[in-house]
Amino acid sequence: MPAPLMSLTWTDHVTGRQGFLVVDRLVRGVASGGLRMRPGCTLQEVAGLARGMTVKEALHYDPRLRYVPLGGAKGGIDCDPRDPGAYGVLVRYLRAMRPYVESCWTTGEDLGLSQDLVDRAAAEAGLVSSIQAVYPLLDDEAAARRRLADAFAVEVDGIGLDELAGGCGVAESVLTVLDRAGVPRAGTRVAVQGLGTMGGATARFLARAGLVVVAVADIKGTIVNPAGLDVDALLAARDSHGTVDRAVLRSGDRELPGDAWLSADAEVLVPAAVSYAIDTANQRRITARWIVEAANMPVLPGAEGLLAARGVTVLPDVVVNSATNAWWWWTLFGDVGPDAREAFAHIRRSMRALVEQVLARAEADGRSPRAAAHALAADRLPVIAERFGWYRDGERPAPVA
Ligand SMILES: NC(=O)c1ccc[n+]([C@@H]2O[C@H](COP(=O)([O-])OP(=O)(O)OC[C@H]3O[C@@H](n4cnc5c(N)ncnc54)[C@H](O)[C@@H]3O)[C@@H](O)[C@H]2O)c1
Repeated sequence: MPAPLMSLTWTDHVTGRQGFLVVDRLVRGVASGGLRMRPGCTLQEVAGLARGMTVKEALHYDPRLRYVPLGGAKGGIDCDPRDPGAYGVLVRYLRAMRPYVESCWTTGEDLGLSQDLVDRAAAEAGLVSSIQAVYPLLDDEAAARRRLADAFAVEVDGIGLDELAGGCGVAESVLTVLDRAGVPRAGTRVAVQGLGTMGGATARFLARAGLVVVAVADIKGTIVNPAGLDVDALLAARDSHGTVDRAVLRSGDRELPGDAWLSADAEVLVPAAVSYAIDTANQRRITARWIVEAANMPVLPGAEGLLAARGVTVLPDVVVNSATNAWWWWTLFGDVGPDAREAFAHIRRSMRALVEQVLARAEADGRSPRAAAHALAADRLPVIAERFGWYRDGERPAPVA
């Protein structure tokens, strides 16, 4: 894989904290990728995430759609989002990144940040919007912006559509692997790490599909109940950081240490919090048959090899959690309207088709689903570059002699 197009490190003059931006690749001058905030975030982590965004964009490329694929990017800030000074750091980071957000980097919420917070900080940093770089690519900018704003105003059971889109895609990925394996949904057990935007929505959709959510972990620890947790009650008891108020736990629920979700007696594990959660040492504790990566980079490569050797399939992040990003663009470019039913139907159709394609390729090539997803993206990237160019002026790569 080539080096990223652009990597930069920012140091906050007030706190000394660092932030990063990596633009892995441009398509028509624009790259897409969220902004995360977590203590210990590194440039290397952000570069891996930016590469992942390039792959996600390529995997959702469908020439029949209005959505123009973009390049991949990511931002990261090394700071605890619950630190009282975190918002000031976020605003100063966005002030420093303003030229990039204005010209080539469309961003949004990721780990540690909500879209509301990103929007508020972006406005304070003098930006029109966190996705303004894509506006020049739209046919009717006013209508597109109205459609996206309308979509963000849609709520389902008190949760914003934007916070449900990604989890709908994760849940559909789980259901697709179960259906393919002939495993009934009803009663299949699932454990989820993280009950924020991704983990919360995933748990919600899976519980509604008949699965039993037996464990959820947040920053404070793991909550388990082998008979099934009351997902709706836990979701309603979250604070803005995705931490569950333990006062709502029922009599059969138990509190265990933070890593207990790993060894939960469940068929499916959904890591939906931090990167690098599953390593070569702790993978031994996993008894699940499938790991479905809602988080970005939760399974380290060494662990994935060991898991595969004992028959545990890892469905990769670049596929599983790609619906959030794709939904933004399907909505903005006009492939779906600002309507939950239409959005969920489109997400389910697209994710099912993508997961089927990746698993079929993995079987045909005798490789892991991750290797198959990257192979599919590698097939598409030259096609995208040829059709759209890296830069907005339509510059095409020089023909190879
Ligand atoms: N939000 C999105 O749109 C989006 C899209 C694609 C991928 N992702 C990925 O999904 C993951 C989660 O993102 P999010 O936006 O849902 O985050 P979030 O901040 O909304 O929620 C994070 C959740 O993880 C929990 N958590 C944090 N650290 C933990 C730890 N050490 N152990 C256990 N739980 C912990 C928090 O308590 C919270 O419940 C990240 O890897 C992110 O990159 C997010």
